[in-house]
Amino acid sequence: MHIHGRAHRTIWLNADGWSVEVIEQTLLPHRFETVTLKTAEAAAGAIKTMQVRGAPLIGVTAAYGVALAMRADSSGAALARTIAYLASQRPTAVNLRWALEEMRKVLAPLPPADREKAAYAKAAAICDDEVETCRMIGVHGLPIIEALAAKKRPGEPVNILTHCNAGWLACVDWGTATSPIYQAHDRGVALHVWVDETRPRNQGASLTAYELGAHGVPHTIIVDNAGGHLMQHGKVDMCIVGTDRVTSNGDVCNKIGTYLKALAAFDNGVPFYVALPGSTVDWELDDGMKIEIEERSGDEVLKMAGRLPDGRVEVVEIAAPGSKAGNPAFDVTPARLVTGLVTERGVCKASTDGLRGVFRRLG
Ligand code: MRU
Repeated sequence: MHIHGRAHRTIWLNADGWSVEVIEQTLLPHRFETVTLKTAEAAAGAIKTMQVRGAPLIGVTAAYGVALAMRADSSGAALARTIAYLASQRPTAVNLRWALEEMRKVLAPLPPADREKAAYAKAAAICDDEVETCRMIGVHGLPIIEALAAKKRPGEPVNILTHCNAGWLACVDWGTATSPIYQAHDRGVALHVWVDETRPRNQGASLTAYELGAHGVPHTIIVDNAGGHLMQHGKVDMCIVGTDRVTSNGDVCNKIGTYLKALAAFDNGVPFYVALPGSTVDWELDDGMKIEIEERSGDEVLKMAGRLPDGRVEVVEIAAPGSKAGNPAFDVTPARLVTGLVTERGVCKASTDGLRGVFRRLG
């Protein structure tokens, strides 16, 4: 997608042929900077501190982290150690484990001397596949938006609500939830996006609004609690969100607050879609309640960063000194609240049969 008129991915290999560049997402939307990753430790740190975040992107970053590790030590022990280390950085998004498993499958059988080259090739393949996968999610999601647009008066926009950032910043390009939105917008479908701010880290206000704005998509940031009210007043035609893990029965784990939006959508008859690549399906779990939910620092709740009039970005405290904060980062939306899963292979029901149907896998 485009930033300041230039096409960007969120992660790429530098001209030196080995170091990896990523967009520093903790600085957005105030500053656009990149970070160079030269070691597996740096890749792990970028994942942990959320310089890179979003399920697909942390998977790709981890894949490149393995390639960086293989430059230093390509022994079997180093491979196993690096994979375990990278996997431990964030527990909820299954794409991280998936990408590392893909790396292991390719690298483990090879002689150590061949591993570095093969690791870079596999990481690049995972990265490129991610782009095509997200493009296809958009191809399959587009008719949903077009069908809603067909019921509107000429020029009247389709109103779409999204939560967190499941845009190209969370992936490599296109995004998952945003891919149908970008493709509809590019085809001239009138649409408008309600962007949940997504406390505590504000991925909606800081990232989704930033990238929609950069692409020229009309949008409005709302507080997380506004969605239900807007739905009651007929101001939301559909919801579409991303996900960090979908269990084999169709339960959806996504950024904290997603469940409340799904409940409100269900109560108001608003279709609630979830966009995901196949790498987000956890075939080993058949119940979303079994997913490990990342608990993050209470500081994310008690403090907020913002830009001052002079351009400086400062962190301020928003609660009385001494108050404690809990910070579960994700929640689970039961499959029964989900209208459909939008995947690179097509749209399916959020159910075991639905997922098996599109992914042709026996689970
Ligand atoms: O904590 P984050 O910012 O990594 O959480 C991201 C989300 O919850 C996204 O909605 C999800 O990863 C899907 S990204 C296509």
